[in-house]
Amino acid sequence: MLRRLYHDQPESFAFTPANLEWARAQITKYPEDRAQSAVIPLLWRAQEQEGWLTKPAIEHVADMLGMAYIRALEVATFYFMFQLQPVGSIAHVQVCGTTSCMICGAEDLIAVCKDKIAANAHELSTDGTFSWEEVECLGACANAPMVQIGKDYYEDLTAERFGWILDELAAGRVPTPGPQNGRYASEPLSGLTSLTDHEAGRDSLNASARLATDIGDTVKRIDGTEVPLLAPWGKQSGADDEEAPAAAAAPAPAPAPEPSPAAPTPAAEAEESEPELLSGPREGRAPDDLKKISGVGPKLEGMLNELGFYHYDQIAQWGPSEIAWVDARLTFKGRIERDNWVAQATELAKG
Ligand code: FES
Repeated sequence: MLRRLYHDQPESFAFTPANLEWARAQITKYPEDRAQSAVIPLLWRAQEQEGWLTKPAIEHVADMLGMAYIRALEVATFYFMFQLQPVGSIAHVQVCGTTSCMICGAEDLIAVCKDKIAANAHELSTDGTFSWEEVECLGACANAPMVQIGKDYYEDLTAERFGWILDELAAGRVPTPGPQNGRYASEPLSGLTSLTDHEAGRDSLNASARLATDIGDTVKRIDGTEVPLLAPWGKQSGADDEEAPAAAAAPAPAPAPEPSPAAPTPAAEAEESEPELLSGPREGRAPDDLKKISGVGPKLEGMLNELGFYHYDQIAQWGPSEIAWVDARLTFKGRIERDNWVAQATELAKG
């Protein structure tokens, strides 16, 4: 399926203050020069806030993480969980169409979507309140057929029950998620034959459905105020700590590390200069196992050998201009500095 940005985009995007604080806390999970590792959670939060992922939102996240726009766009267009077109203002319905659900009536549910929402997946209903799509297995096969609506699962569905759920949502009510046929969880339809003790005094809802009901954010756009936000280190954000958000604010895109003989840094800008090359291992010596350098696998080792590198001390001598020379001849540009081959090789050369 071709995934492109929607033709009609809003002018701008901004996180709500609470979502912005949450996003900044996520970034602090990663080393400063790895901020882009937070791209998926931030894109996801932007989608939770807006319902779908707009171009300004993708670019905003890229800016926060110091990434090229194309890198964030690659992530957003690769994963189907990101909605690249507007979704229903009340709900976007995801109907599982994989084997168990298909056998148990997914096609009937899709017929309901076509009848009540829109003829085609990813189309808005005429009033813009609903949209739908067919998705792959959502992992609730024992309760097939099922749909995901917003954050929650509605399971053991019939076409009639599913139609009722959509009507309830349209009326501003959120039906209780979970099994819709009276089952507690995924026990046999005929009832339990063993392990029945827990039935006495149990909640009428299983734990997942109970939690979903208690939180109540099934189809809500997430603005960050729903539940206490936890920073990765377990400290609740929004508490009286001015420092955590401030420290996390506007993470710099990969600040340059301190230059040192063991870790030359500005190779990307450096003039190339050819390092010491050998036509084979030094006389009387076996080649060093370059795969001991983290980041060098068999393929890279072969390439390094072909270029004329057989020993750790050769790599240990590279400066920025030699790194630039080697980098220009490898297919994995930037890896030498990222994995700090020179420092690793220096250690390995010491034996
Ligand atoms: S097949 Fe539908 S949830 Fe697995």
